[in-house]
Amino acid sequence: MTDLDHPAPDFPLEQAAALAREHFGVDGELSRLDSERDQNFRLVSASGDWTFKIVNASEPALESEFQAALFDHLGAVAPELALPRLRKTVSGSTLATAEGVSGVRHALRMVSWLPGKPLAESARTTEVLHSLGRIMGRMDRALQGFIHPGALRAFDWDIRRAGESRSRLHHIADDADRALVTRFLDRFDAHVAPRLPALRAQVIHNDANDWNVLVDPERPDAVAGVIDFGDALHTVLIAEVAVACAYSILDEADPIGAAAGITAGFHAEYPLREEELDLLFDLIAARLVISVTLSAQRKQRTGDNPYLAISEAPAWRLLRRLDAMNPRFATAILRHACGFDAAPGASAVSGWIARNAKTFAPILKPHPATLTKALVPYGDAANQMTVASAAADPDTASAWWDAYAAEHGVTLGIGPWGEARTVYSGDMFRSRLIEGERRDRHLGLDLFMPAGTKLYTPLAATVKSVEIEEDPLGYGGLVALLHEPEGCPPFVTLWGHLAHEVVSRLKPGDRLEAGALVAEMGAHAENGGWAPHLHFQISVDPEMAARDILGVGEARYLDVWQSLFPNAATLAGIPPETFAQTGLSRAEIVAERKAKLLPNLSISYSEPIKFVRGDGVWLIDDRGRAYLDCFNNVCHVGHAHSHVVEAIATQAAKLNTNTRYLHDNIVAYSERLTATLPPELCVAAFACSGSEANSLMLRMARTHTGREDAIVLDWAYHGTTQELIDLSPYKYKRKGGKGRKPHVFEAVIPDSYRAPEDWPVEEHARRFAASVAEQIEAMRKQGRAPAFFLAESIPSVAGQVFLPEGYLKEVYAMVRAAGGICVADEVQVGFGRVGSHWWAFETQGVVPDIVTMGKPIGNAHPMAALVTTREVATSFNNGMEYFNTFGGNPVSCAAGLAVLDVIEQGDLRRNASEIGAYLVERFRAMQERHESIGDVRGMGLFLGIELVEDRRTKVPATALAKKICDGVRRRGALMGTEGPHDNVLKMRPPMIFTRADADLLVAILEETFEAVEAGGQ
Ligand SMILES: Cc1ncc(COP(=O)(O)O)c(C=O)c1O
Repeated sequence: MTDLDHPAPDFPLEQAAALAREHFGVDGELSRLDSERDQNFRLVSASGDWTFKIVNASEPALESEFQAALFDHLGAVAPELALPRLRKTVSGSTLATAEGVSGVRHALRMVSWLPGKPLAESARTTEVLHSLGRIMGRMDRALQGFIHPGALRAFDWDIRRAGESRSRLHHIADDADRALVTRFLDRFDAHVAPRLPALRAQVIHNDANDWNVLVDPERPDAVAGVIDFGDALHTVLIAEVAVACAYSILDEADPIGAAAGITAGFHAEYPLREEELDLLFDLIAARLVISVTLSAQRKQRTGDNPYLAISEAPAWRLLRRLDAMNPRFATAILRHACGFDAAPGASAVSGWIARNAKTFAPILKPHPATLTKALVPYGDAANQMTVASAAADPDTASAWWDAYAAEHGVTLGIGPWGEARTVYSGDMFRSRLIEGERRDRHLGLDLFMPAGTKLYTPLAATVKSVEIEEDPLGYGGLVALLHEPEGCPPFVTLWGHLAHEVVSRLKPGDRLEAGALVAEMGAHAENGGWAPHLHFQISVDPEMAARDILGVGEARYLDVWQSLFPNAATLAGIPPETFAQTGLSRAEIVAERKAKLLPNLSISYSEPIKFVRGDGVWLIDDRGRAYLDCFNNVCHVGHAHSHVVEAIATQAAKLNTNTRYLHDNIVAYSERLTATLPPELCVAAFACSGSEANSLMLRMARTHTGREDAIVLDWAYHGTTQELIDLSPYKYKRKGGKGRKPHVFEAVIPDSYRAPEDWPVEEHARRFAASVAEQIEAMRKQGRAPAFFLAESIPSVAGQVFLPEGYLKEVYAMVRAAGGICVADEVQVGFGRVGSHWWAFETQGVVPDIVTMGKPIGNAHPMAALVTTREVATSFNNGMEYFNTFGGNPVSCAAGLAVLDVIEQGDLRRNASEIGAYLVERFRAMQERHESIGDVRGMGLFLGIELVEDRRTKVPATALAKKICDGVRRRGALMGTEGPHDNVLKMRPPMIFTRADADLLVAILEETFEAVEAGGQ
């Protein structure tokens, strides 16, 4: 071992020059250099500049040989690196020796002089620190394969031996300083030393302090070279980084940031491992501890030696700064700088949360996604609420927010993750990482609701801690829950600003199931002095105590905090649209539509909604509010159903073309579709819209019968083309309509609710069918006869009218007797919506000659179909081709197949029956409480509630229906109004509607009826 007390050699200059000449053949001008234990000279000669070293006599020969071998190795393996190169002696050896004053022999070594200015005297820019890391990384990569017996030295500066600094503690005079070093030594012994033996070890330079690192004054952002290999040894690789950091971050405003720059540079050249980075913070401190304890020891022995004490004061300052930091945060920064998760498992937690977003229990009731939300103005420093909050005036802050929320109909205020805020005015928000900076970025998600709002855990949890944080503008009631879901690393949720009741109700170790009550939002007296809200935060580091979790962080490290404390919005069920709006505003779209689109396009609701996303039974608007969709029957198996989306995308990515080429999908789909129908209906044709299907039907019926005339039901709608408008009393009888054409004959709507009172119920079918008989008779009188009878199997536009039992049997018999064919329009009601059957006509016990289908067929993919009998298909085959460019294409058929899969595999017809029956039962119960509900009708998930002014007179309550529909929308659900008087509430929710969805719909309806009946909205 080198004896540090052995005095450095002291050869006179002339003698040293003679030795250089004699042994290395270099003649030049010699000048002294500083050295702790050797005697070093700069030698300027004609052959270049050299460093000439007369080694301390106490250095074993083995170590000198190791040094020489090390230079040799680097020269061979990494000649491109700016490192000193060994000059051999005149006799070709790597070392020479010389006798000193007292007869002891000293090794002599000569290496090339590296030009440059020490980093200690240069600006420590981000670039130069990164460059330092890189050069050390490249050097150590080059040293990977090098070993020498002399490298295995026992040496105080070996970071693995930092624990021995404890034996030098008594040299530190100041109690506080000793306690400081002791704290680091305790951490070293407990956390670091046991893990060191498992780390990579190799020969390293071990002394990249800022006097040994040279910068080119011409290019001050790049390290020009590294010198002085005197401390090289075989130890843990990460020590190289720790040593380089320990010196280069001294007196930096952001020492960890500077260390991260060096570390990232090293990692770029020589990848570090997570287990190495996890110890780096402590190893940086360990190096400083070795340094200050050795200095203290030597100071006591040798008195003031300015060289020994050179880095002492800054080292103490840095130790104090490091001591004030949370090592987990520093480690997070260092890990992140190298591209690792800020804490192990961070991305796995975020990924798991994203993948399981649909399974979490709601944190609030009702579900926060369904509430009208707005951002709380903490991002605006000048806002009155912000100013009041920063001044710890929660009354004014609350009053501002309450008024704003009332004015804008907002029920949930949101404080987003990452927001820059000025409200954090206290001293506790001073950064401990970066001198002179404040923490101002919000790392939780704030949910503002009235004090007392109950909060539930989205996932099963074990209570980790329950406490009250008393600091002004602190958390008040504070709970941490540990979650350990299957397939996800454990993580913690933090619940701040709670009412204090939680402290007596929960204790660490308590188990909470998903959806269990956690706490209530606290009033300002209990929540740290804020307008009532929940601060909800995730920590992917499950070890971190609640008070250590950083609720507000430094802007500079936002990306680190994002990894460590990811945005809790998804876990809290807040749709992303809440935070950022994309595209045009609602008003802009309305204006653009007016300017550029047909004015005939109508818009639902006087305050139109802009939807940006669909998800199952939900439609999500541009401000992140989710509406329960009970109206749009097109997304039959739920909005954006993954199986359908995938089927469409997969086929679209492969091939989409027309039916003139052969493809499997069209025949596979025809097979599957016709299998849902009675055997007579066995020939399929495809189109792109319900109108096209009905239009094709028209061609078929006319070709098959050779006739033109039609019988339709009053107030029916069958499509948008002129020929279908002519068959749609709902259109031709209303605004802009030209009235009934001579070839069209209207039968009355067979609406049992509005049947004459004296008609016995069992005769409704026959009596309503008489209207069709009258039309046939009217035709006959004009010398006409029906080509077809066309009706929806449950007239929908006419007001969700359920045909009297046996009605179609009567009518079909009459029409067929008159030579016509019978057509069922199942564009709205097909595909299992009625639950008991695939097709609504089946509930009437008839088999039509043609069935037309659309809307739900492709779950919103534009697609339609017609299925007919072999007989009709054969007569239609008159030589004229049926070609439809897009109809029946492979993508549409893939969508159709996927929809059938979902209905069948999810047993959705049974679901429609059960949930539909449940809804009818609940609506009937409502009917008992609300006089205005004249009739409740439904089959499966095709439902109607008819509103009347008076149950006896049945005067339609048109205005009320609109109010209810609007009120329901205001409360977060979508439905429509239908019927000749627009007084029937119409509902056709997706087939995946659950009992919980049904309960929510009923609750919303109930609340709306009560509000409207009380004169509200
Ligand atoms: C019963 C009925 N038939 C046909 C159509 C026309 O379908 P599409 O709008 O797809 O052309 C509709 C559309 O609302 C409809 O409700």
